[in-house]
Amino acid sequence: MAELIDGKRISTMIKDECKQKVEEYKAQGIEICLAVIQVGNDPASSVYVNNKKKACAYVGMNSLSYELPEETTQEELLSLIQELNERKDVNGILVQLPVPAHIDEKTIINAIDPKKDVDGFHPQSVGSLCIGQPGFVSCTPAGIIQLLKRSDIDITGKHCVVIGRSNIVGKPMALLMLRENATVTIAHSKTKDLKAITRQADILIVAIGKPKFIDASYIKDGAVVIDVGIHRNADNKLCGDVDFDSAKEVASYITPVPGGVGPMTIAMLMKNCVDSISLQ
Ligand code: GUN
Repeated sequence: MAELIDGKRISTMIKDECKQKVEEYKAQGIEICLAVIQVGNDPASSVYVNNKKKACAYVGMNSLSYELPEETTQEELLSLIQELNERKDVNGILVQLPVPAHIDEKTIINAIDPKKDVDGFHPQSVGSLCIGQPGFVSCTPAGIIQLLKRSDIDITGKHCVVIGRSNIVGKPMALLMLRENATVTIAHSKTKDLKAITRQADILIVAIGKPKFIDASYIKDGAVVIDVGIHRNADNKLCGDVDFDSAKEVASYITPVPGGVGPMTIAMLMKNCVDSISLQ
């Protein structure tokens, strides 16, 4: 029976460490401010954005909120980003994704000053991660590293299989595990015989986007299982990409959904905002 990795507890620990650092900066006369931009009113995005603003308040940072109408043009959004890039009192800029279809996501990500790219999505941030230079790291994968380290799970030399190759999770996750000296395999929707590969994993990180897809038959005895997925089923209950009830019987450690990876994303966003001061 697997031990639970408690993301709620670890994320609170990280937010409390941020709170402490924010107080220390305040004592030196330095305030930290995150600007959050949402275009349109996608309900899921509104929940995320609200949670980000609440987290800022919890750690004692300022936040600026821009709720722009759906029909905002790309030029208008770019001009707001430019203004925020130039503002000395703004340390982090976050454009909540997805943006409406008439706005090009890449152009928006590229417009954010890499020194304020607290999401870690800018090509310069991703490139820095790739070659081991200082820069912001995407919050969800950075949070997973914290979950492993703070649960005393050794990464060095382990075979880590990441299922998923998105720019936000899969790719940075693989790079981070490599930085931690794991042997890394990336699997994805075109991978042949997925089960043969996942069964080799000492650490299995699942960002596949399909509810309860990974059951015990995909997992080696004693493996660590990290579930990045989040879905709502017919009775409005949350579940992940992993079939938790089956997986917990073979895994040594497992993250639950909710309360595993989810809360780490915002905690690491707060950490990136705090770290922005030293990068700037
Ligand atoms: N949409 C879903 N996740 C994220 C995230 O981590 N950052 C931003 N900006 N948008 C998102």
